[in-house]
Amino acid sequence: MDKKSVPAHVAIIMDGNGRWAKSKGMPRTIGHAKGAQNLEDMLYIADELGIKYLTVYAFSTENWKRSEDEVLALMNLFRQYLRNGFRKAAKNNVRIRVIGYRPGLPKDLQDLADEIEEFSKDNTGLQFQIALNYGSRDEITRAVKQIAEEVKNGTLSPEDISEETITKHLDTADIPDPDLLIRTSGEQRLSNYLLWQLAYTEFYYTDTHWPVFGKKELQDAIEWYQTRDRRYGNAK
Ligand code: IPE
Ligand code: IPE
Ligand code: MG
Repeated sequence: MDKKSVPAHVAIIMDGNGRWAKSKGMPRTIGHAKGAQNLEDMLYIADELGIKYLTVYAFSTENWKRSEDEVLALMNLFRQYLRNGFRKAAKNNVRIRVIGYRPGLPKDLQDLADEIEEFSKDNTGLQFQIALNYGSRDEITRAVKQIAEEVKNGTLSPEDISEETITKHLDTADIPDPDLLIRTSGEQRLSNYLLWQLAYTEFYYTDTHWPVFGKKELQDAIEWYQTRDRRYGNAK
């Protein structure tokens, strides 16, 4: 694949773990475990294909409304995932960042997120963002509160507020906007993901469920992306 026209930043809404498990007659939590394993593989595949930034939606601010058992199982998976992340980051030069409302996560997950960001901050390979307890409206609300605070204490004047000011106060402050968004499993909605950042992003939908979305499927998405005529964005 021609690396030059590969999207620099790919965002993924990893959907369909539950439906995949159901189709196999298994509990939803098995679908989540298989989905987490797939994400592990996807990091290497994305890197190999020349993607620089990968940002995945793992748990939304709305996902707390799921059953207590499912939420607990997901938190355990994230724990395991972040713990394994240290080895992964060290071995593959991956920089890991956790976006979303961190104080809303269990304390040990907050600590793990802090530690892994610090541990991997100088890594120059794949820039990997995982969205945990993430909601775009929440992120924008937090940004507005910080900006209001700066105006109140006199460090910022209202006339100086620009699009860049807002961008810089988001969880994705130093990260370029996604070029391509992929949502697996057939739904065609944003589910409160990266509303500001996706302003000019190309959207790709596929019926494939996340646990079985592999290299071939990612290549198909990139090939589709390469047929788009883009006026704005990072990749050109
Ligand atoms: C995505 O799969 C994973 C999370 C939202 C945590 P789902 O759990 O949403 O799977 P479906 O949509 O029910 O199939
Ligand atoms: C979006 O998927 C969130 C994640 C993939 C983590 P959902 O499956 O939770 O989205 P809705 O609720 O169907 O919109
Ligand atoms: Mg879903």
